[in-house]
Amino acid sequence: MANLLDVNNLQTVFRTDKGEVTSVDEVSFSLKEGETLGIVGESGCGKSVTSLSIMRLLGKGGRVKHGSVKFKDRELTNLSEQEMRNIRGNDISMIFQEPMTSLNPLLTIGNQLMEGIRLHLKLSKKQAKLYAIDMLKKVGIPRAEAIINEYPHALSGGMRQRVMIAMALSCKPNLILADEPTTALDVTIQAQILKLMKKLKNELNTAIILITHDLGVVAEMADKVIVMYAGQVVEEADVYTLFDSPKHPYTKGLIKSIPHLDNDSSERLDSIPGTVPTLQHMPKGCRFHTRCPFATERCINEKPDLLQLKENESHSVRCFLYDSEQLDKDVREEVNS
Ligand SMILES: Nc1ncnc2c1ncn2[C@@H]1O[C@H](COP(=O)(O)OP(=O)(O)O)[C@@H](O)[C@H]1O
Ligand code: SF4
Ligand SMILES: [Mg+2]
Repeated sequence: MANLLDVNNLQTVFRTDKGEVTSVDEVSFSLKEGETLGIVGESGCGKSVTSLSIMRLLGKGGRVKHGSVKFKDRELTNLSEQEMRNIRGNDISMIFQEPMTSLNPLLTIGNQLMEGIRLHLKLSKKQAKLYAIDMLKKVGIPRAEAIINEYPHALSGGMRQRVMIAMALSCKPNLILADEPTTALDVTIQAQILKLMKKLKNELNTAIILITHDLGVVAEMADKVIVMYAGQVVEEADVYTLFDSPKHPYTKGLIKSIPHLDNDSSERLDSIPGTVPTLQHMPKGCRFHTRCPFATERCINEKPDLLQLKENESHSVRCFLYDSEQLDKDVREEVNS
């Protein structure tokens, strides 16, 4: 099956008062129809900029400097703004963390839902209204016939996020970019929304790029995962492999810091010391070397490439510990213990 989306060697830069900074660098991944890709990494690692680059919603000062974004064999980076707007309405939808900023407070739920539906599905007003009510019911909104006449502020956070999902799905997109879609919600609502996304995705065979800093969400939802650090992909694998045998020291650190329900709450969580470097102060060599317990002289001076592992071609790692066959076995065992 051909890929639905191919992102190849993406580099995104921003103009700032201190000059141009590179936010996302050498990012590549692909996605098939119906597949869910999780993008994880701490705040500031380039997850949102990656998805905004795909959608061409970088805003003033941001641009894709290198690389290609192929969606259904069309190069999105070359499309006119008008063509891109069509893609955004019909083929790719986005769901953001805070639905209040993406819903118009001055329009009723029904009006904003119907606007998109009428434009993209070419339905009459009456048909669009029935369709909108149907969509609201699909995402589990009670009293959909009444809610349709209400304004966003009358709804709870969870309900607003359901409306956003209904809006994102209403044009039957092939791909949904969901950027921290449940981060602002409490745990119970979060679980409900994720379950709903999973159900709808299975029904409609929609591909999803799910951006989250929460590895628990990834484990629950994703087929495959890319781990981003400081604007780059540092590891890629299917979800089982990633949790079963993570390779990159950063991935290992992230997995160790997942809170477990059976943990004594007074127990300190394992975490990675230090912080993500800023774009102005990107370390040379391996970008993770300032925080990595295994850093060597070489890591400080040379940049590691993202390389496929010999034992599993769909598993790639950007780390010198895995780049040669003559690895020191002791070192590798230490890292994997
Ligand atoms: N408009 C912008 N101008 C300059 N730098 C930006 C802009 N937007 C994002 N960045 C920088 O790009 C990096 C990646 O940001 P982002 O993709 O938002 O991270 P994430 O979503 O993983 O938390 C960060 O260092 C951030 O400061
Ligand atoms: S290349 Fe070196 S510094 Fe970077 S993650 Fe691997 S061991 Fe750590
Ligand atoms: Mg973000």
